[in-house]
Amino acid sequence: MKTSLRSSTKIPWKIPLWLAIVIIILCSLVEVCRGQNKDVDEFGDPKTKVDAFGGDSSGSGGASGPPKIPKEVQSCDGIYISYDFLGREKEYPHVKNTTAQSWAFKSQLQLVNMGNTELKTWKVFIGFQHRELLVSADGAVLVDGDEFPAQVGNNGTTIGGYPQADLKTAIDTAGDFTQIAVSVAFKGTQFGVKPPGTPMPKTLKLQNDGFKCPAPSKRKSNIYLCCRKDKKFKVNTKLKYSRKKTGDLNVMYDVLQTNGNNYLAQVTMENDHPLGRLDHWNLTWEWMRGEFISTMRGAFTHLKDPSQCIYGPAGQYYQNMDFTQVMNCERNPIMSDLPAEKKDDEKVGKLPFCCRNGTVLPKTMNESESKSVFQLQVFKIPPDMNRTALYPPQNWKLTGVLNPNYKCGPPMRVEPSEFPDPTGLQARVLAVASWQVVCNITRPKVKQNRCCVSFSAYYNDSVVPCNTCACGCNDLPDDGTQCSTKAPAMLLPPEALLVPFENRSVKAVAWSRIKHYHIYDPMPCPDNCGVSINWHVDADYKNGWTARMTLFNWGSNAFEDWFVGVQMGKASEGFDKAYSFNGTLLKDLNNTILLQGLKGLNYLIAETNGTKPRDPRVPGKQQSVLSFNKRLTWHLNIPEGDGFPKKLLFNGEECALPSFIPAKSGGIRTNSKNSIITFIFTCIITLFLVR
Ligand SMILES: *[C@@H]1O[C@H](CO)[C@@H](O)[C@H](O)[C@H]1NC(C)=O
Ligand SMILES: *[C@@H]1O[C@H](CO)[C@@H](O)[C@H](O)[C@H]1NC(C)=O
Ligand SMILES: *[C@@H]1O[C@H](CO)[C@@H](O)[C@H](O)[C@H]1NC(C)=O
Ligand SMILES: *[C@@H]1O[C@H](CO)[C@@H](O)[C@H](O)[C@H]1NC(C)=O
Ligand SMILES: *[C@@H]1O[C@H](CO)[C@@H](O)[C@H](O)[C@H]1NC(C)=O
Ligand SMILES: *[C@@H]1O[C@H](CO)[C@@H](O)[C@H](O)[C@H]1NC(C)=O
Ligand SMILES: *[C@@H]1O[C@H](CO)[C@@H](O)[C@H](O)[C@H]1NC(C)=O
Ligand SMILES: *[C@@H]1O[C@H](CO)[C@@H](O)[C@H](O)[C@H]1NC(C)=O
Ligand SMILES: *[C@@H]1O[C@H](CO)[C@@H](O)[C@H](O)[C@H]1NC(C)=O
Ligand SMILES: *[C@@H]1O[C@H](CO)[C@@H](O)[C@H](O)[C@H]1NC(C)=O
Ligand SMILES: *[C@@H]1O[C@H](CO)[C@@H](O)[C@H](O)[C@H]1NC(C)=O
Ligand SMILES: *[C@@H]1O[C@H](CO)[C@@H](O)[C@H](O)[C@H]1NC(C)=O
Repeated sequence: MKTSLRSSTKIPWKIPLWLAIVIIILCSLVEVCRGQNKDVDEFGDPKTKVDAFGGDSSGSGGASGPPKIPKEVQSCDGIYISYDFLGREKEYPHVKNTTAQSWAFKSQLQLVNMGNTELKTWKVFIGFQHRELLVSADGAVLVDGDEFPAQVGNNGTTIGGYPQADLKTAIDTAGDFTQIAVSVAFKGTQFGVKPPGTPMPKTLKLQNDGFKCPAPSKRKSNIYLCCRKDKKFKVNTKLKYSRKKTGDLNVMYDVLQTNGNNYLAQVTMENDHPLGRLDHWNLTWEWMRGEFISTMRGAFTHLKDPSQCIYGPAGQYYQNMDFTQVMNCERNPIMSDLPAEKKDDEKVGKLPFCCRNGTVLPKTMNESESKSVFQLQVFKIPPDMNRTALYPPQNWKLTGVLNPNYKCGPPMRVEPSEFPDPTGLQARVLAVASWQVVCNITRPKVKQNRCCVSFSAYYNDSVVPCNTCACGCNDLPDDGTQCSTKAPAMLLPPEALLVPFENRSVKAVAWSRIKHYHIYDPMPCPDNCGVSINWHVDADYKNGWTARMTLFNWGSNAFEDWFVGVQMGKASEGFDKAYSFNGTLLKDLNNTILLQGLKGLNYLIAETNGTKPRDPRVPGKQQSVLSFNKRLTWHLNIPEGDGFPKKLLFNGEECALPSFIPAKSGGIRTNSKNSIITFIFTCIITLFLVR
């Protein structure tokens, strides 16, 4: 009885266990299937695309048919936005740590204009949050001009439509979904989130002016919302396109003439930042539709390689064209300004604001040199053979030598630019179409300086030199000499500032011996800066004080029309005058003192050889005394640091400042006091330990 009872209890116990296991396995299989076509369940009707990573890789972002709009937002009368996570696959390397595992994912963004007004240049913010890296976005570009792959997972990113930037209304198009809706296909990498979690963005919203977006509705692999027009927002119904924006540097892409297969465009760069500038600018962009540049006026491209046209789609279409006469066939041409000699050249010059060898000055220096203009004849290929098929190039980038860093946004269609009538009549001439690219000055996080500052003062005979590796130590001299990138720069005797770094070591060591400063072994590395600036506090008296600024050019390029911006904090207000520079106090700009060479003396020459072959090389130099009064700033304490710049820019580029200032003799006492305290402290500790 006992045994039978036992066995009878045993069997029913085992069966449920097995059943449970089978059910778990079945469930997990179902889960897997579900996981693979998640976008199927969301709206209850199956989609053709079963697996995001399956065969369908045509990549046509816009071709997935009219989007399915959930019931709750069928009544939306604004812009419907939805983001669908389509699937993901584990990537190499496979790692045990789930937070460090990367996954390849695919997702899709859809926008539908369900309202009654056209949406121009749509922009959507996607709040990515799982360390996403976007590898491609078919149907859109990143608004901040980043290139793919783009790190977007920390703060999210804003995307704009390309090529379809506008969403027409159903009313105007008889409900044509190819014109009122757009779909963007993303591919990327994402980290962390382990299955069955789905890595969804935190939020989603329309960035265009005049719209209000509620918090999105979230489902497992889909989030969506309906952004409605903000009733309070005033729209200027007269304007067909958006207004021009302001930024640090404005670039216009104006189409002046258009024929069937080609058009004439004019590019205008205008500097709107009082301390921004460009020297020897290089401009580059990306042709998205197979265009090429046949001729150019006011600028040139760096490479002429007709084979890229001949063996490409352009060559197939233009069978009879002589591509050796074509200016440029690259997808990413690099363009530069023409030198001044070409200004009056009949063929490539004769354009106002061109041909200054790539110099764009701030308006504060010379308004008539704050603009750069060039023109280009662009040839298109099918299907853009209609003269109204105009698309600007994308991914604009601007660089210069020793300039601030510019970051450019995407071209935005704006109201057509106006030009004066060429025949001199009082008529307005409008461009056929105009796009604006706004470039702002940015300071990248890991920014290497390209100029540096040294400090000295009348009350201390040592110079505090530029920091070790102030402009980087990436390419150390490979001549066997060792140097330390960590050791602080050694204090110098003043005359050592006049010789190149390699000739300073002997002087620095001798000086340290005399002054009993620490001598480092290995010696600190050089600053590696092409331009260094010495700021010397010259005198300090009751009513005012003076400083002497010396610029050194250690590079092989001369600087014409250089300028220096100095921010002194509260001491700036007392700026009186510069003796051999032209100095102006810009009150609106944090009291920056703008210094530039006087007319005819605005040339900072390059480094030259010494007079005798064995002599050290000689830097280009410029110097002036600056005087300040203390009328408004009587409480200044010059030796305590008020007499040294808080920020210094050379040609708009921020220079590295030393990490400390020359100390007044009083400083020594505190120092020795400190070391006495340290000594006593060490003694006490040692006594303790010995006991
Ligand atoms: C897992 O990886 C993350 C991110 O790479 C890291 O912060 C974390 O310390 C790692 N954990 C372990 C246990 O290694
Ligand atoms: C993200 O945003 C925060 C705050 O706005 C900012 O401090 C941080 O630098 C941003 N991170 C990146 C990578 O842009
Ligand atoms: C023009 O700029 C180039 C570098 O872009 C430089 O080599 C050349 O010397 C400059 N010409 C003049 C006349 O300054
Ligand atoms: C100094 O610079 C300002 C601004 O660029 C200019 O208007 C002024 O004429 C210059 N003065 C001299 C003496 O060169
Ligand atoms: C500004 O530049 C123009 C053209 O190069 C020149 O003629 C004019 O003298 C400059 N103005 C000043 C104030 O330097
Ligand atoms: C050019 O495009 C416009 C608008 O897209 C269209 O109305 C016109 O018929 C096209 N012309 C030709 C010759 O294809
Ligand atoms: C401009 O581009 C040319 C060609 O690639 C390059 O040699 C030059 O260094 C670039 N100049 C700047 C300022 O980036
Ligand atoms: C540039 O700065 C302006 C404001 O100064 C801002 O409105 C604009 O969005 C910025 N553009 C980019 C591309 O960062
Ligand atoms: C300066 O340094 C260079 C390069 O190291 C060396 O050839 C030259 O002899 C030095 N000149 C003096 C005066 O020390
Ligand atoms: C002015 O200086 C303050 C403090 O140094 C800084 O936060 C601010 O960004 C500066 N403004 C400009 C326009 O440089
Ligand atoms: C400067 O000196 C170097 C080597 O000492 C020599 O090659 C070069 O030609 C000299 N340059 C000039 C302008 O004398
Ligand atoms: C000069 O300044 C340096 C750096 O602050 C300091 O170490 C040194 O003691 C000062 N020399 C004198 C004589 O005050």
